[in-house]
Amino acid sequence: MPPVGAKSLLLITGANTGLGFEVAKALFARPGPYHILIGCRGDVSRASDAISKLKHLSPSSASTAEPLSIDISSDESIAAAFEEVQERFRYIDVLINNAGADFDTAITSGRLTKREGWSQCWDVNVAGTHIVTETFAPLLLASKSRQSRLLFITSGLSSMSENASGASPRYALPPVGWPKPGNPFVYLAYRSSKSGLNMIATEWARVLRNDGVKVFNVSPGFLHTGLSTDRPTGEAKDTKAMGAVDPAIGAGFCVDVVEGKRDDQAWPPKVMRMNMVQPW
Ligand SMILES: NC(=O)c1ccc[n+]([C@@H]2O[C@H](COP(=O)([O-])OP(=O)(O)OC[C@H]3O[C@@H](n4cnc5c(N)ncnc54)[C@H](OP(=O)(O)O)[C@@H]3O)[C@@H](O)[C@H]2O)c1
Repeated sequence: MPPVGAKSLLLITGANTGLGFEVAKALFARPGPYHILIGCRGDVSRASDAISKLKHLSPSSASTAEPLSIDISSDESIAAAFEEVQERFRYIDVLINNAGADFDTAITSGRLTKREGWSQCWDVNVAGTHIVTETFAPLLLASKSRQSRLLFITSGLSSMSENASGASPRYALPPVGWPKPGNPFVYLAYRSSKSGLNMIATEWARVLRNDGVKVFNVSPGFLHTGLSTDRPTGEAKDTKAMGAVDPAIGAGFCVDVVEGKRDDQAWPPKVMRMNMVQPW
């Protein structure tokens, strides 16, 4: 592995696929240069495959990457990842809290009980994300460039005021009593966890405000990724047919944030959509 040198050092959780991978891909295609820790839970061969793909897609890129094993639902895994990065580099410039998961699909299919699905959803999307941030915060504060940025990836579904205003899909239900036909809740475990994440991101912005770490809470749009695939069963929704767009679009937005093009929007805390502030 060549030395990181003057490259910006990033950690992206859940970067083996989906939006996280697309962010790495977009970074590889830009002048950078970056060294990217490709966070991946479980078997890191998936991160190694992702890195081969990055090199194949941008053969002349000045950026580099390496896999980092990190399961954000495991304190042991988070601690081991921290030890590795601390020992190797002693700092990071950018942390992208991208890893996230939907468990509503598994609840609806009956693979998980409601209790299991809700607990796992909040564990990954809220508690795990907060614990990763708290663990890696000292490395962000030690950023050599002092251009340190901390990103959270929230969701358009997290907006409580949009939901309350009736903008949410399937808002009005027929007055048929109980039970309602089908599932009356729209990704409720997931969307409520992302509303919870919005508070976490807001707190991190406040806590790090005077430490030179810029904190962003990014709502990347509805993207065609594996998010609503129930991983063990492989049951997937055709999100393209539902209007999801190429994740490269959301990734380009995230990379603009990484490269400082949105620095003026870091404070006060807000949820950033590509062209607007997302209502809380
Ligand atoms: N897709 C959208 O429309 C959309 C919209 C708004 C926000 N987001 C957010 O964007 C982020 C990326 O999601 P995506 O759409 O790219 O979905 P994805 O294709 O399912 O990718 C999610 C990534 O997170 C990883 N992950 C899940 N649980 C993890 C854990 N416990 N520890 C470490 N990594 C874990 C996954 O790993 P595995 O490959 O091992 O499962 C995968 O790498 C998420 O935070 C999601 O909520 C997505």
